[in-house]
Amino acid sequence: MRHKHSDYMHWSKTQSRARFNLATSGVAPFPLRELPVNLESLEINGINDYGYAPLQQAIAAHHGVNPECVVESAGTSMANHLAMAAIIEPGDEVLIEHPAYGPILDIARYLEANVKRFRRSEESGWAIEPAEVRSHITPKTRLIVITNLHNPTSVLTPGSVLREIGDIARSVGALVLVDEVYLDAVYEKTPRTSFHLGPEFIVTSSLTKVYGVSGLRCGWILAQPDLAWKMRRLNDLYSATPVYLGELLSVAAFQQLNLLREKARRIVDSDRKLLRDFLAQQQAISAVETKWGTTSFVRLRDGNADKFLERLRSGFDTSAVPGRFFEMPDHFRIGMGVNTEMFAEGLDRISDALA
Ligand SMILES: Cc1ncc(COP(=O)(O)O)c(C=O)c1O
Repeated sequence: MRHKHSDYMHWSKTQSRARFNLATSGVAPFPLRELPVNLESLEINGINDYGYAPLQQAIAAHHGVNPECVVESAGTSMANHLAMAAIIEPGDEVLIEHPAYGPILDIARYLEANVKRFRRSEESGWAIEPAEVRSHITPKTRLIVITNLHNPTSVLTPGSVLREIGDIARSVGALVLVDEVYLDAVYEKTPRTSFHLGPEFIVTSSLTKVYGVSGLRCGWILAQPDLAWKMRRLNDLYSATPVYLGELLSVAAFQQLNLLREKARRIVDSDRKLLRDFLAQQQAISAVETKWGTTSFVRLRDGNADKFLERLRSGFDTSAVPGRFFEMPDHFRIGMGVNTEMFAEGLDRISDALA
């Protein structure tokens, strides 16, 4: 039987919520009433066979790329699926970072790829080390997959390292898929998309995590025009045409991106300060500090995070994501950017549960 599910997604949809919910990865929902949009201008049906041109143009302008390189998708989830499905044949080697966002592994397994891993180690601050990638590359490698910012740690990979990864991929005719869904949470000197680094780069992203409009499911892929067409044709087998109304609202969101981003930024920044002070006081846990991003990957120095998180939920009504979903059972992931009062109380409760 082929792999046909995601344990992480199922857990996230059915068990992640608690009164003090630190099991999040995106920022607070941005309400429709705060989005300057003329409701009269909305419509249910319109022309969007292979994407709604104004939305493709907005995405292209956001990244400084040709609209021919933009493929609309239902969130970064579908973007990752389409990108991988268009590239991978059964048996192809796909080299994926470890720790990884679970659904990326699930997609590769579903596509019957031969999944290989390269390690991002906590000792090196979860950095991508090109020598480690190089040591796992073979002539059969078809794709290297990374997230930037990294989920779960939020570590930013610099352009110089990405360029080296591109060189390594090119040396064996492979491609590099960079999931950049969190990249715009780098609020200052936001790096340009890695799509500009060379033709071996394919990028996925969406408005779901950093902009608070996850419900619009506005996602996309950046790929070279021929590959982009392959992905659009493949999507004919999945969701065929996008939701037109969602596309209109997504265009309105693109017109207000700074408003959406800055609103979330204030919460993310406050939460990060709280987290920094909190971690400095705790002996039982530690985390690589990051300047940006909406998640932090915390190590429980002595013990099993699953058991700790069960106790945290049952006794303290607080949730975080178990590290087992990132194949690191001694860790757990905390999310920032939703509500600072809730975040502060959640941290207090973690502290009480640790005591
Ligand atoms: C790295 C990564 N990629 C993709 C997704 C899915 O995002 P979307 O809601 O845009 O489908 C997530 C969600 O947590 C994620 O963390």
